[in-house]
Amino acid sequence: MIEFLYTSAWGAFVVMLMLQIPFLIVFFHVVNKKAFVDSEPGKTEADKYSFVRYSWIGIVLLAFFVINGFSIQYMPTIVEANAAASGDVRNVKVTAQSWSFEFSENDFKVGDTVRFLAASVDTVHSFALYHPEGNLLFTMMLVPGTSTESAIVHTFTEPGEYTIRCLEYCGIAHHAMKNKLTVL
Ligand code: CUA
Repeated sequence: MIEFLYTSAWGAFVVMLMLQIPFLIVFFHVVNKKAFVDSEPGKTEADKYSFVRYSWIGIVLLAFFVINGFSIQYMPTIVEANAAASGDVRNVKVTAQSWSFEFSENDFKVGDTVRFLAASVDTVHSFALYHPEGNLLFTMMLVPGTSTESAIVHTFTEPGEYTIRCLEYCGIAHHAMKNKLTVL
């Protein structure tokens, strides 16, 4: 069910609608309040207000630290550091040029942790990996002329035919700049 939210266009639409709900609640609450004009000064005590304000800030801060704490393991730099520490990473070189990708190795199995070291030899391209079901796993920009390759570590957890695409406009055949990668 949750996959529907990020694999279909309607999923993105539903997420967008859901993001509107809190704003709509606040909007109608304010409209509703305004409908009853009260000429007297507010009856809420000042220090009651500050309690509400501080608990709201507390909730936001708590959410900030909890969400960051649980999601930090998915940051590319942390994934890279964990993979380097385990020592079980294969380096695969990717060369991008108008309008194709070339790999130094082509045999991938489920469970492989691969460090893609990608570089462009002519203009700005990108290296984007798509799951066999079509959702984007990652993309990285490839700028020509840099002294080090762009690197990202990915562990293949499912077999199938993955698609590589360029997501930076790079000329007349940009749309055709793609390749396949089979994971057994
Ligand atoms: Cu290469 Cu677009």
